[in-house]
Amino acid sequence: MTILITGGAGYVGSHTALVLCQAGYDVIVIDNLVNASREAVVRVEQLAGRRIVFVEADVRDSDTVASALTRYGVDAVIHCAGLKAVGESTERPLLYYQTNIDTTLSLCSAMERVGVKTLVFSSSATVYGDPDELPVTENAPVGWPSNPYGWSKLMIERILTDVQAADSDWSIALLRYFNPVGAHESGRIGEDPKGIPNNLMPFVTQVAVGRRATLSVFGGDYATADGTGVRDYIHVMDLAEGHLRAMHVIAERGGCRVWNLGTGRGTSVLEVVEAFKRVTGRPIDYRIVPRRAGDIAACCAAPERAQAELDWRARRGLDAIVRDAWRWQRQNPEGYMGSDRE
Ligand code: WQD
Repeated sequence: MTILITGGAGYVGSHTALVLCQAGYDVIVIDNLVNASREAVVRVEQLAGRRIVFVEADVRDSDTVASALTRYGVDAVIHCAGLKAVGESTERPLLYYQTNIDTTLSLCSAMERVGVKTLVFSSSATVYGDPDELPVTENAPVGWPSNPYGWSKLMIERILTDVQAADSDWSIALLRYFNPVGAHESGRIGEDPKGIPNNLMPFVTQVAVGRRATLSVFGGDYATADGTGVRDYIHVMDLAEGHLRAMHVIAERGGCRVWNLGTGRGTSVLEVVEAFKRVTGRPIDYRIVPRRAGDIAACCAAPERAQAELDWRARRGLDAIVRDAWRWQRQNPEGYMGSDRE
């Protein structure tokens, strides 16, 4: 089988490419490299001992996508391409709506044109907004995302649901990621944010490696056990394996199906900091600062549907997450930038 991954040079895409290669699939990556590195794909090839076809193009170039789908005999598409910086989406909403929605529309048009109708989409738990009940199940109402990035994911879910409802030849998985973190255990691929990281885990590892002085903990007065925000951190390799399982299940059963990809465990910011010190021996200098606008107190997945229907569960815990995130950061203090091919 041949799988095309859009955004396959990015963080989630590259780990998913590796899992697919290791499971014996032929992988085609299409990526415009705006927030990704060619080097990530090279390293996935090295880790897997398998060639990947790399197409440097924008997914909005529908003709290039359609010709790649036919030329390589693609059976299914995993769609990870998109912009994902929450703060930037508030400053540049047009860019976010245009990029994320156009990309998906163009991709689906190309797929429809050549008759490839199996699609796995990278959605986000952000579609739940601030959930009334935790852990949050897939049946919870989709909420009111606090930023254009979240809205673009929710709108795309709606579009894909309608596309499948109109034509039952489509098989679509909507995967609602909780907080993807960590790196492949080799330390060869990982998350490589450009500039100051917005997300907790890369900030913590950059403090540990000396690139940043102090972690700002956004809010110490939430209604949580220690007052700091609680999230469901999922190891990116568990997440990647979830894509493979979801692809199998929709290819077999069809429909448009939604799955949470999370662990079911909530972890506070201070618990992450403590785990980091325990596992790596490196204390993280931090100070509590005011809350970040748009943040919710707590979020955590109900993972039961994915466990039952995908025969999948997150197997790696917080210690593995921290160990692997740190190995990646330590071995690549400047991310992929230090490599020859940049
Ligand atoms: C986690 C916790 C912060 C940074 C966002 C998007 C989501 C997904 C993942 C995807 C919160 C606290 C953070 C820092 C801190 N995006 N924090 N200091 O906000 O749950 O989710 O990223 O592609 O859609 O909304 O993740 O890692 O930013 O924050 O105290 O420097 O860490 O307040 O409690 P978040 P995060």
